[in-house]
Amino acid sequence: MKDAEFEGKRALVTGGGRGIGRAVARLLAERGGRVAVHYRANRGEAERTLASLAGEGHILVQGDAGEPEETRRIVEETVRGLGGLDILVNNAGVYEEHRIDGAEWEEWRRAWERTVAVNLLGPAHLSYWAARRMIDAGGGRIVNVTSRGAFRGEPTAPAYGAAKAGLNALTGSLAKALAPRGIFVAAVAPGFVETDMAEPFLAGPGGEAIRAQSPLGRAAAPEEIAEVVLFLASGRCGFATGAVVDANGASHLR
Ligand SMILES: NC(=O)c1ccc[n+]([C@@H]2O[C@H](COP(=O)([O-])OP(=O)(O)OC[C@H]3O[C@@H](n4cnc5c(N)ncnc54)[C@H](OP(=O)(O)O)[C@@H]3O)[C@@H](O)[C@H]2O)c1
Repeated sequence: MKDAEFEGKRALVTGGGRGIGRAVARLLAERGGRVAVHYRANRGEAERTLASLAGEGHILVQGDAGEPEETRRIVEETVRGLGGLDILVNNAGVYEEHRIDGAEWEEWRRAWERTVAVNLLGPAHLSYWAARRMIDAGGGRIVNVTSRGAFRGEPTAPAYGAAKAGLNALTGSLAKALAPRGIFVAAVAPGFVETDMAEPFLAGPGGEAIRAQSPLGRAAAPEEIAEVVLFLASGRCGFATGAVVDANGASHLR
Protein backbone atom coordinates (compact mmCIF):
# COMPACT_ATOMS: atom_id res chain seq x y z
CA MET A 1 0.00 0.00 0.00
CA LYS A 2 1.46 3.37 -0.97
CA ASP A 3 1.45 6.17 1.56
CA ALA A 4 1.27 9.70 0.20
CA GLU A 5 3.51 10.94 3.00
CA PHE A 6 6.49 9.21 1.41
CA GLU A 7 5.55 9.60 -2.26
CA GLY A 8 8.61 11.03 -3.99
CA LYS A 9 10.57 11.36 -0.73
CA ARG A 10 14.27 10.59 -1.09
CA ALA A 11 15.79 8.63 1.77
CA LEU A 12 19.28 7.45 2.68
CA VAL A 13 19.19 4.35 4.90
CA THR A 14 22.63 3.50 6.25
CA GLY A 15 23.21 -0.20 6.71
CA GLY A 16 20.18 -0.71 4.50
CA GLY A 17 21.33 -4.02 3.07
CA ARG A 18 20.54 -6.19 6.08
CA GLY A 19 18.57 -6.39 9.31
CA ILE A 20 16.66 -3.37 10.55
CA GLY A 21 17.97 -1.18 7.71
CA ARG A 22 16.63 -3.61 5.11
CA ALA A 23 13.19 -3.55 6.76
CA VAL A 24 13.26 0.26 6.81
CA ALA A 25 14.27 0.43 3.13
CA ARG A 26 11.48 -1.98 2.15
CA LEU A 27 8.81 -0.11 4.10
CA LEU A 28 9.90 3.27 2.75
CA ALA A 29 9.79 1.93 -0.82
CA GLU A 30 6.44 0.22 -0.23
CA ARG A 31 5.02 3.56 0.89
CA GLY A 32 6.25 5.47 -2.14
CA GLY A 33 9.73 6.62 -1.14
CA ARG A 34 12.92 6.37 -3.19
CA VAL A 35 15.74 4.82 -1.24
CA ALA A 36 19.53 4.86 -1.26
CA VAL A 37 20.42 1.47 0.20
CA HIS A 38 23.75 2.06 1.86
CA TYR A 39 26.12 -0.76 2.81
CA ARG A 40 29.76 -1.13 3.80
CA ALA A 41 31.03 -4.62 2.89
CA ASN A 42 28.11 -6.88 2.10
CA ARG A 43 27.28 -5.90 -1.46
CA GLY A 44 25.42 -9.13 -2.20
CA GLU A 45 22.91 -8.55 0.59
CA ALA A 46 22.53 -4.91 -0.41
CA GLU A 47 21.82 -5.93 -4.02
CA ARG A 48 19.22 -8.43 -2.80
CA THR A 49 17.57 -5.69 -0.75
CA LEU A 50 17.61 -3.30 -3.70
CA ALA A 51 16.02 -5.91 -5.96
CA SER A 52 13.27 -6.50 -3.39
CA LEU A 53 12.17 -2.86 -3.13
CA ALA A 54 8.79 -1.83 -4.48
CA GLY A 55 8.70 0.97 -7.04
CA GLU A 56 11.57 2.44 -9.01
CA GLY A 57 14.51 4.79 -8.79
CA HIS A 58 16.29 3.23 -5.81
CA ILE A 59 20.09 3.13 -5.69
CA LEU A 60 22.99 1.45 -3.88
CA VAL A 61 25.62 3.52 -2.07
CA GLN A 62 28.74 2.01 -0.57
CA GLY A 63 30.88 3.53 2.18
CA ASP A 64 32.39 3.14 5.62
CA ALA A 65 30.41 5.27 8.07
CA GLY A 66 33.36 5.07 10.44
CA GLU A 67 35.60 7.03 8.05
CA PRO A 68 34.80 10.75 8.35
CA GLU A 69 35.61 11.68 4.73
CA GLU A 70 33.45 8.81 3.45
CA THR A 71 30.39 10.29 5.12
CA ARG A 72 30.55 13.26 2.78
CA ARG A 73 30.80 11.02 -0.27
CA ILE A 74 27.94 8.82 0.93
CA VAL A 75 25.64 11.84 1.16
CA GLU A 76 26.89 13.36 -2.11
CA GLU A 77 26.36 10.12 -4.02
CA THR A 78 22.88 9.84 -2.56
CA VAL A 79 21.99 13.38 -3.56
CA ARG A 80 23.34 12.81 -7.07
CA GLY A 81 21.60 9.45 -7.44
CA LEU A 82 18.22 10.42 -6.01
CA GLY A 83 18.22 14.09 -6.99
CA GLY A 84 18.07 15.28 -3.36
CA LEU A 85 17.72 14.08 0.21
CA ASP A 86 14.63 14.41 2.39
CA ILE A 87 15.20 11.67 4.99
CA LEU A 88 18.36 10.30 6.63
CA VAL A 89 18.07 7.12 8.66
CA ASN A 90 21.27 6.58 10.68
CA ASN A 91 20.90 2.84 11.16
CA ALA A 92 24.34 1.33 10.44
CA GLY A 93 26.06 0.06 13.54
CA VAL A 94 28.50 -2.43 15.00
CA TYR A 95 28.50 -4.42 18.22
CA GLU A 96 31.79 -5.85 19.48
CA GLU A 97 32.38 -7.36 22.91
CA HIS A 98 35.30 -5.98 24.92
CA ARG A 99 35.11 -6.87 28.59
CA ILE A 100 36.91 -4.53 30.96
CA ASP A 101 37.88 -7.56 33.04
CA GLY A 102 38.89 -9.73 30.09
CA ALA A 103 39.97 -7.88 26.96
CA GLU A 104 43.61 -7.26 26.14
CA TRP A 105 44.54 -3.57 25.90
CA GLU A 106 44.77 -3.56 22.08
CA GLU A 107 41.42 -5.32 21.77
CA TRP A 108 39.80 -2.90 24.25
CA ARG A 109 41.20 0.17 22.51
CA ARG A 110 40.31 -1.04 19.01
CA ALA A 111 36.74 -1.87 20.04
CA TRP A 112 36.25 1.59 21.57
CA GLU A 113 37.68 3.40 18.55
CA ARG A 114 35.72 1.40 15.99
CA THR A 115 32.45 1.43 17.93
CA VAL A 116 32.52 5.15 18.60
CA ALA A 117 33.62 5.85 15.00
CA VAL A 118 30.78 3.88 13.43
CA ASN A 119 27.96 4.24 15.97
CA LEU A 120 28.43 7.86 17.03
CA LEU A 121 30.81 9.81 14.80
CA GLY A 122 29.31 8.26 11.66
CA PRO A 123 25.77 9.47 12.40
CA ALA A 124 27.12 12.87 13.53
CA HIS A 125 29.05 13.42 10.29
CA LEU A 126 26.33 11.99 8.04
CA SER A 127 23.88 14.34 9.79
CA TYR A 128 26.25 17.25 9.15
CA TRP A 129 26.34 16.66 5.39
CA ALA A 130 22.67 15.76 5.18
CA ALA A 131 21.62 18.82 7.20
CA ARG A 132 23.42 21.14 4.80
CA ARG A 133 21.31 19.74 1.95
CA MET A 134 18.15 19.84 4.00
CA ILE A 135 18.73 23.42 5.13
CA ASP A 136 19.14 24.50 1.49
CA ALA A 137 15.98 22.58 0.58
CA GLY A 138 13.94 24.07 3.45
CA GLY A 139 13.65 20.99 5.67
CA GLY A 140 14.05 17.27 6.20
CA ARG A 141 14.02 14.45 8.73
CA ILE A 142 16.76 12.56 10.52
CA VAL A 143 15.98 9.34 12.40
CA ASN A 144 18.68 7.61 14.45
CA VAL A 145 18.65 3.97 15.50
CA THR A 146 20.09 3.86 19.01
CA SER A 147 19.65 1.09 21.61
CA ARG A 148 18.15 0.08 24.91
CA GLY A 149 21.76 -0.51 25.96
CA ALA A 150 22.27 3.25 26.29
CA PHE A 151 19.92 3.16 29.32
CA ARG A 152 20.25 -0.38 30.61
CA GLY A 153 24.04 -0.67 30.36
CA GLU A 154 26.25 -2.91 28.22
CA PRO A 155 28.60 -4.62 30.68
CA THR A 156 30.39 -6.67 28.03
CA ALA A 157 30.41 -3.95 25.35
CA PRO A 158 30.65 -0.62 27.20
CA ALA A 159 31.69 1.33 24.09
CA TYR A 160 28.42 0.26 22.45
CA GLY A 161 26.31 1.57 25.36
CA ALA A 162 28.35 4.76 25.52
CA ALA A 163 28.18 5.41 21.77
CA LYS A 164 24.40 4.85 21.74
CA ALA A 165 23.97 7.14 24.75
CA GLY A 166 25.97 9.70 22.82
CA LEU A 167 23.70 9.19 19.83
CA ASN A 168 20.67 9.82 22.04
CA ALA A 169 22.24 13.05 23.27
CA LEU A 170 23.15 14.00 19.70
CA THR A 171 19.53 13.44 18.69
CA GLY A 172 18.34 15.97 21.27
CA SER A 173 21.02 18.52 20.45
CA LEU A 174 20.39 18.35 16.70
CA ALA A 175 16.63 18.48 17.23
CA LYS A 176 17.10 21.80 19.01
CA ALA A 177 19.65 23.17 16.57
CA LEU A 178 17.73 22.19 13.45
CA ALA A 179 14.07 22.78 14.39
CA PRO A 180 14.29 26.44 13.28
CA ARG A 181 15.54 25.11 9.92
CA GLY A 182 12.55 22.82 9.46
CA ILE A 183 14.51 19.66 10.20
CA PHE A 184 13.02 17.03 12.54
CA VAL A 185 15.41 14.76 14.46
CA ALA A 186 14.37 11.76 16.57
CA ALA A 187 15.50 8.25 17.49
CA VAL A 188 14.25 4.77 18.19
CA ALA A 189 15.91 2.65 20.90
CA PRO A 190 15.24 -1.05 20.26
CA GLY A 191 15.80 -3.95 22.60
CA PHE A 192 16.87 -7.26 21.04
CA VAL A 193 15.86 -7.57 17.37
CA GLU A 194 16.02 -10.71 15.19
CA THR A 195 18.98 -9.74 12.95
CA ASP A 196 22.52 -10.90 12.25
CA MET A 197 23.78 -8.65 15.06
CA ALA A 198 21.65 -10.38 17.70
CA GLU A 199 21.69 -13.87 16.20
CA PRO A 200 24.70 -15.21 18.16
CA PHE A 201 22.94 -14.23 21.40
CA LEU A 202 19.41 -15.30 20.47
CA ALA A 203 20.59 -18.65 19.06
CA GLY A 204 23.02 -19.30 21.92
CA PRO A 205 22.49 -20.87 25.33
CA GLY A 206 21.33 -17.52 26.73
CA GLY A 207 18.66 -17.09 24.03
CA GLU A 208 15.70 -18.10 26.19
CA ALA A 209 16.77 -15.77 28.98
CA ILE A 210 17.10 -12.92 26.50
CA ARG A 211 13.60 -13.52 25.14
CA ALA A 212 12.30 -13.69 28.71
CA GLN A 213 13.61 -10.16 29.37
CA SER A 214 10.42 -9.00 27.66
CA PRO A 215 7.02 -10.02 29.06
CA LEU A 216 6.17 -10.76 25.42
CA GLY A 217 8.71 -13.59 25.62
CA ARG A 218 10.39 -12.75 22.34
CA ALA A 219 12.74 -10.42 20.49
CA ALA A 220 11.43 -7.82 18.02
CA ALA A 221 11.03 -8.40 14.31
CA PRO A 222 13.01 -5.89 12.24
CA GLU A 223 9.73 -4.81 10.63
CA GLU A 224 8.42 -3.61 14.01
CA ILE A 225 11.37 -1.28 14.43
CA ALA A 226 10.97 -0.12 10.84
CA GLU A 227 7.39 0.94 11.61
CA VAL A 228 8.66 3.24 14.38
CA VAL A 229 11.33 4.67 12.09
CA LEU A 230 8.71 5.39 9.44
CA PHE A 231 6.38 7.03 11.93
CA LEU A 232 9.21 9.32 13.03
CA ALA A 233 10.22 9.98 9.41
CA SER A 234 6.64 10.70 8.37
CA GLY A 235 6.13 14.10 9.92
CA ARG A 236 2.84 13.01 11.48
CA CYS A 237 3.98 14.43 14.82
CA GLY A 238 6.46 17.24 14.40
CA PHE A 239 6.25 17.81 18.16
CA ALA A 240 8.08 14.49 18.71
CA THR A 241 11.30 16.10 17.55
CA GLY A 242 14.08 15.30 20.02
CA ALA A 243 12.33 12.12 21.21
CA VAL A 244 14.02 8.79 21.81
CA VAL A 245 11.25 6.21 21.40
CA ASP A 246 11.66 2.89 23.23
CA ALA A 247 10.82 -0.27 21.29
CA ASN A 248 12.06 -2.93 23.70
CA GLY A 249 8.96 -4.99 24.50
CA ALA A 250 8.82 -3.54 28.04
CA SER A 251 12.11 -5.29 28.82
CA HIS A 252 13.48 -2.05 30.24
CA LEU A 253 11.28 0.78 31.53
CA ARG A 254 12.83 4.13 32.21
N1 LIG B 1 19.72 -6.30 16.49
C1 LIG B 1 19.55 -5.80 17.69
O1 LIG B 1 19.25 -6.54 18.65
C2 LIG B 1 19.67 -4.32 17.93
C3 LIG B 1 19.23 -3.81 19.16
C4 LIG B 1 19.33 -2.45 19.41
C5 LIG B 1 19.85 -1.61 18.45
N2 LIG B 1 20.29 -2.13 17.25
C6 LIG B 1 20.87 -1.19 16.29
O2 LIG B 1 20.16 -1.27 15.08
C7 LIG B 1 21.01 -0.91 14.00
C8 LIG B 1 20.94 -1.99 12.91
O3 LIG B 1 21.35 -3.20 13.50
P1 LIG B 1 21.04 -4.64 12.90
O4 LIG B 1 20.66 -5.47 14.04
O5 LIG B 1 20.16 -4.52 11.73
O6 LIG B 1 22.54 -5.05 12.49
P2 LIG B 1 23.14 -5.99 11.36
O7 LIG B 1 22.12 -6.94 10.87
O8 LIG B 1 24.40 -6.48 11.96
O9 LIG B 1 23.46 -4.96 10.20
C9 LIG B 1 24.38 -3.94 10.42
C10 LIG B 1 24.37 -3.00 9.25
O10 LIG B 1 25.30 -1.94 9.49
C11 LIG B 1 26.19 -1.86 8.40
N3 LIG B 1 27.52 -1.45 8.86
C12 LIG B 1 28.29 -2.06 9.80
N4 LIG B 1 29.46 -1.41 9.92
C13 LIG B 1 29.41 -0.37 9.06
C14 LIG B 1 30.31 0.68 8.74
N5 LIG B 1 31.52 0.78 9.29
N6 LIG B 1 29.94 1.57 7.82
C15 LIG B 1 28.75 1.48 7.23
N7 LIG B 1 27.84 0.53 7.48
C16 LIG B 1 28.19 -0.39 8.39
C17 LIG B 1 26.24 -3.25 7.79
O11 LIG B 1 26.67 -3.17 6.44
P3 LIG B 1 27.16 -4.50 5.62
O12 LIG B 1 25.92 -5.30 5.41
O13 LIG B 1 27.74 -4.02 4.37
O14 LIG B 1 28.14 -5.18 6.52
C18 LIG B 1 24.80 -3.70 7.96
O15 LIG B 1 24.01 -3.25 6.90
C19 LIG B 1 22.41 -0.77 14.60
O16 LIG B 1 22.70 0.60 14.80
C20 LIG B 1 22.30 -1.49 15.93
O17 LIG B 1 23.21 -1.00 16.86
C21 LIG B 1 20.21 -3.46 16.98
